[in-house]
Amino acid sequence: MDPKAAQIFRERGVEVDEITGKTPEELKAIIGEYDGLAIRSSTKVTKEILEHATNLKVVGRAGIGVDNVDIPAASAKGVVVMNTPFGNSITTAEHAIALMFALARQLPEADASTQAGKWEKNRFMGVELTSKTLGLIGAGNIGSIVADRALGLRMKVVAFDPFLTPERALEMGVEKVTLDELLARADFITLHTPLTDQTRNILSAENLAKTKKGVRIINCARGGLIDEDALKAGLDSGHIGGAALDVFKVEPAKESPLFGTPNFISTPHLGASTTEAQVNVAIQVAEQLADFLVSGGVTNA
Ligand code: MLT
Repeated sequence: MDPKAAQIFRERGVEVDEITGKTPEELKAIIGEYDGLAIRSSTKVTKEILEHATNLKVVGRAGIGVDNVDIPAASAKGVVVMNTPFGNSITTAEHAIALMFALARQLPEADASTQAGKWEKNRFMGVELTSKTLGLIGAGNIGSIVADRALGLRMKVVAFDPFLTPERALEMGVEKVTLDELLARADFITLHTPLTDQTRNILSAENLAKTKKGVRIINCARGGLIDEDALKAGLDSGHIGGAALDVFKVEPAKESPLFGTPNFISTPHLGASTTEAQVNVAIQVAEQLADFLVSGGVTNA
């Protein structure tokens, strides 16, 4: 967590300990002392940890996803769970756009080949983004920033999102479509939705088969939204032209059948990893937790 968080807690009169590298057992042994807990992604706030958290009133996640917190167990204990839904949106959207460019021009493979002394100019024929159709699955905070940047690149943007109103779609300059329409029309597909029972495997084998031949797929949201075996089969058959995953069903993804597949790019859940985003989420989580602890104010719970 960026040190700004501790600074804000102290300025607001909240005593703070900066704790890193504790095992779950060690966290269990000390958690009873604390009224609030601010975490990033690697700390798992399990039912067991919560059982030992006798004084805990609030957990704040410096980031968007709260998948590392057992929400039902926290709610049962009356512990409020907050996230910071805005601080890393731009950064994550930029990572999705970066991966889209990387897929369009096979940048990682071209880089590896050039640095291996091969100079394979004829091997790497790319595609332009201009005039291509980008299919957005999820048009919330991050999806709408991706749409804005894609429109700036002169792409056409179609969006599938049950929560997207026609007025908001108009304001964003995107066309609201059904999932099937998106799958049939998109040259690039990017996912920006949480992992829920409704979105799990949204790009299943069946749905991947409905995509346009040559489609390129980007996922900087959550692993589990795409059937990774079906994605591998689609890349191998050539139906899918490329895929870039920042997130995997099982993380850390130390091995995957996708690794080494041509036209496949991966990064280790770097979507939110910029200095700006980490400062933003640290400031937001500290302000929200301090508000709650000092005066009971609840934001983004
Ligand atoms: C988030 O949920 O904010 C992102 O996935 C960032 C992260 O977990 O590192």
